[in-house]
Amino acid sequence: MELYELLMRRRSVRNFKPDEVPEEVVAKLAAAANNAPTGGNMQPLSIIAVREPERRAKLGEMVGSQPWVKNAPLSLIFCLDFWRLKKWAELSGVSFRGNEALSHFLIGYADVMCAAQTVVILAESLGLGSVYVGTIQYVADEVREYFELPPYVFPAMLLSLGYPKTVPRNVPKLAVDVVLHRERYEALSDEEIRKAFDDKYGSLDENVEKYFERAFVEAVEADRQETPAWVEAYRDKMKELAIKNNAEFLFKLRYPSDRMVEFKAEEIETFKRAGFDCFGS
Ligand SMILES: Cc1cc2nc3c(=O)[nH]c(=O)nc-3n(C[C@H](O)[C@H](O)[C@H](O)COP(=O)(O)O)c2cc1C
Repeated sequence: MELYELLMRRRSVRNFKPDEVPEEVVAKLAAAANNAPTGGNMQPLSIIAVREPERRAKLGEMVGSQPWVKNAPLSLIFCLDFWRLKKWAELSGVSFRGNEALSHFLIGYADVMCAAQTVVILAESLGLGSVYVGTIQYVADEVREYFELPPYVFPAMLLSLGYPKTVPRNVPKLAVDVVLHRERYEALSDEEIRKAFDDKYGSLDENVEKYFERAFVEAVEADRQETPAWVEAYRDKMKELAIKNNAEFLFKLRYPSDRMVEFKAEEIETFKRAGFDCFGS
């Protein structure tokens, strides 16, 4: 299959067969991640491969209500790792203070995601499916303890992988010409913005389950694999909050704007406990 075709077919997969991912495949994925672009070629990356069922279950428990983490035969925790660089610098008689510098942090996070996305693509080409689980950031303290991460190592992203049992095919996207600007930013009019998102999500006033298949497939998939009853809970919440449109669904219910901002203080503290002190003055 051509790479373009493969990329256009890729979807986040949350339903996996129990089949193991062979060790040679894990090694290949790691080699590709290790060969990804990285700012200054500094490689502030460590990957924890989690395959033992008991440890997968524990990881799944930590990230909460996402049964695919426990069910996936392989999970990779992509860590931003300044510990190794700090040690090396210290051993060489110099200090590396990346954990206090916003630019090192931002570039380091980008490095980690370059590596992770390289794995997503290679995995896809090898017949595997994968899904990112960004909520690992919210439980970084527990993850750091359980997986014995030293200070200055932050679990930035989780990627769960396995051979797909089913693949969601209805995930909507904005039209590409909404995203691509030529030579300069071409601001859309209010009407064009409304249309762009209407075209993406369709209307909300139909069967909620069907709507979730497009706009919130995680909830449908979680209910299929276990009984977290996400769909029901969200349906009730939608009524309670009188959700009228797609944007309200996202920013009043799924990611409530005020709560997301309030959460910032907790997040900064989580980073600080991991030794990252780069958000203050
Ligand atoms: C940074 C990031 C964090 C994500 N976190 C989660 C997550 O916690 N749980 C999940 O099921 N999917 C997660 N996803 C997958 C997205 O839900 C998915 O990419 C999106 O719905 C678009 O679907 P597609 O990947 O099939 O194109 C995440 C994706 C990214 C890039």
